[in-house]
Amino acid sequence: MSEEATKPARRQVHVGVLIAIAVIAAGASAAITALIANISERKGEARTTYSQVVALDEKTWDPAVWGQNFPVQYDAYLGTAEFTPTAHNEALVTRTPTAEDDRTATTASKLEQDPRLVTMWSGYAFALDYRHLRGHEWMLKDQQTTLRVLMKDQPGACLNCHASTPPVMDELGNGDQLAGFAAMNKMPYSEASALAEHPIACVDCHDPETMNLRISRPAFAEGIKNLKASEGIADYEVNKDATDQEMRSYVCAQCHVEYDFAGEDKTLTFPWNNGTDIDDVWDYYQEIGFTDFEHKVTEAGIVKAQHPEFEAWSAGVHAANGVSCADCHMNYERVGAQKVSNHDVTTPMTDVKATCGVCHTASEQVIRDRVTTIQNRFVASRDRALDSLTQLIAAIEQAKSDGTPSDQLELAKKYQNKASFYIDYAYSENSFGFHAPDYFARIITTSLDMSRLGQLALLGVPEEQLEPSDVAKANAEHVAETGLK
Ligand code: HEC
Ligand code: HEC
Ligand code: HEC
Ligand code: HEC
Ligand code: HEC
Repeated sequence: MSEEATKPARRQVHVGVLIAIAVIAAGASAAITALIANISERKGEARTTYSQVVALDEKTWDPAVWGQNFPVQYDAYLGTAEFTPTAHNEALVTRTPTAEDDRTATTASKLEQDPRLVTMWSGYAFALDYRHLRGHEWMLKDQQTTLRVLMKDQPGACLNCHASTPPVMDELGNGDQLAGFAAMNKMPYSEASALAEHPIACVDCHDPETMNLRISRPAFAEGIKNLKASEGIADYEVNKDATDQEMRSYVCAQCHVEYDFAGEDKTLTFPWNNGTDIDDVWDYYQEIGFTDFEHKVTEAGIVKAQHPEFEAWSAGVHAANGVSCADCHMNYERVGAQKVSNHDVTTPMTDVKATCGVCHTASEQVIRDRVTTIQNRFVASRDRALDSLTQLIAAIEQAKSDGTPSDQLELAKKYQNKASFYIDYAYSENSFGFHAPDYFARIITTSLDMSRLGQLALLGVPEEQLEPSDVAKANAEHVAETGLK
């Protein structure tokens, strides 16, 4: 109450936002048509504008060679080496180089900023080192030098999303990428990573003959095939069946997704057999009995979630309207007579006019405030759920030393796992709620509820009494019937 009384201007901003959203809604379909027209027009330009300086083929791995034909894209691509600050990832921290790690600066430690994460992941490698992300040029170096790699044995499967792997798979499989993928996954990380020469490169996303977008990662091809099968589409082959607009997100979904390493062979796997919604993924992990680690304090088996940007985007209003990752993160720009995609992949917020402004006519300030509001509300909700989880962990620890009956402890640990996976999913998604605000509200509420049920379990409330009510069950059935969770 008192907050609102001292900040009357806030209300006006909110009204402004509502008007902006109404305007957005009205302009949306026109904007999409215009954009599609843009894309085909640009394709026409591309065909006439580029002259081939060097011939590219399936074995042209070095991005510098591609850069001779496409200097604009190449220069921008190199620009990802430079740090771009955001509201939640404000600055790099300097460090003194060592023999093992010659970096002079890293991104800030999320563990230092939020020690609750150390409690959540107690006993797991993530509790050793977990940092903010930065641009693509750093992906290999930052992986080779994280304490998660230096202090723990990791498999070659880690490399899939942190290097240009087509040459690595080619070498290991003697020209057979799938065989190379299998070999790379199960070898020790240090050996696999020694074979890598570049972070993500042109060949990872482009067909060298046509420059069309192309999927190079076996795990995504398999994951999307399973996902389509769950939707009743058999034998989906992404490089043949996906539309051009879908590819503008799929190339990113090769890496910006939740994953696991299956079995002894450490096969990189995307858990999409039931769908990409978090509930489908959770069910899948339950079905196969998968956990990532045993919690050191409570001994609960825990599933860790990782950067589900593609899944969150899939659940949002932009995906529903056919707006791709590239539309926001690789905006078109005019360079001389050419119209090119910005290959300096980073936050869209540094140039809102060039990114959001293509479709949204609201003022830059209104758009910025909208993003800030979404992110602020997200963080506020996330805080409640993460506080609750750390309190549940402390309560289980206490209950263990108090001699609480084991069936109560086991039930509480089951709830801890689900509370942890759901809040971790929200935490490790890197848009701070923006990609799908209402989806994250559902996820965070679920986590909060699981922590609450865990606490009740410790008090001795039997599982039957913790079931959803009949009304809640009926509502859930109704939601399932709409197919729009
Ligand atoms: C399915 C793709 C994928 C796999 C497999 C993968 N990563 Fe990543 N990794 C990413 C993406 C995407 C990011 C950037 C988003 C982020 O930081 O959350 C990232 C970020 C990172 C970072 C920088 C931020 C941080 O977490 O400190 C490190 C270090 C890292 N990964 C290490 C690893 C290690 C070690 C493995 C193997 C256990 C691994 N990665 C496997 C996709 C992957
Ligand atoms: C080969 C795996 C891979 C692919 C493909 C990939 N990314 Fe990334 N991306 C990463 C990793 C890993 C990082 C984090 C690197 C680090 O922190 O060192 C990252 C970082 C980022 C960042 C943070 C940049 C910054 O300035 O902080 C953005 C934004 C991003 N990716 C978006 C995308 C988009 C959009 C696409 C598709 C056009 C894409 N990525 C494709 C693995 C990938
Ligand atoms: C409608 C625009 C839009 C679309 C579409 C979109 N994003 Fe984002 N993304 C954003 C915004 C806004 C942020 C928050 C940036 C910030 O906080 O500065 C963000 C943040 C991110 C980040 C963290 C970037 C950073 O520098 O901290 C990554 C990684 C990312 N998005 C990847 C993706 C991927 C992958 C896709 C497609 C599956 C995608 N995004 C689709 C707008 C979009
Ligand atoms: C993460 C994936 C990714 C990587 C890596 C990548 N590109 Fe692209 N590139 C794209 C996307 C997405 C587009 C837009 C394609 C479309 O819509 O048809 C694109 C478009 C292009 C185009 C068509 C003209 C334009 O700018 O839209 C050229 C040329 C190009 N890229 C060159 C390169 C070169 C050279 C490299 C390496 C230095 C590279 N790309 C690396 C994703 C990537
Ligand atoms: C290629 C077009 C396009 C781009 C680029 C784009 N948007 Fe959108 N945006 C849309 C469409 C279409 C909708 C849906 C409008 C509707 O449902 O009526 C939408 C909806 C929204 C909404 C309402 C969300 C909701 O849940 O209803 C917000 C907020 C938004 N966009 C912000 C952004 C921001 C911020 C950016 C830049 C980072 C951006 N958009 C970039 C097309 C775009």
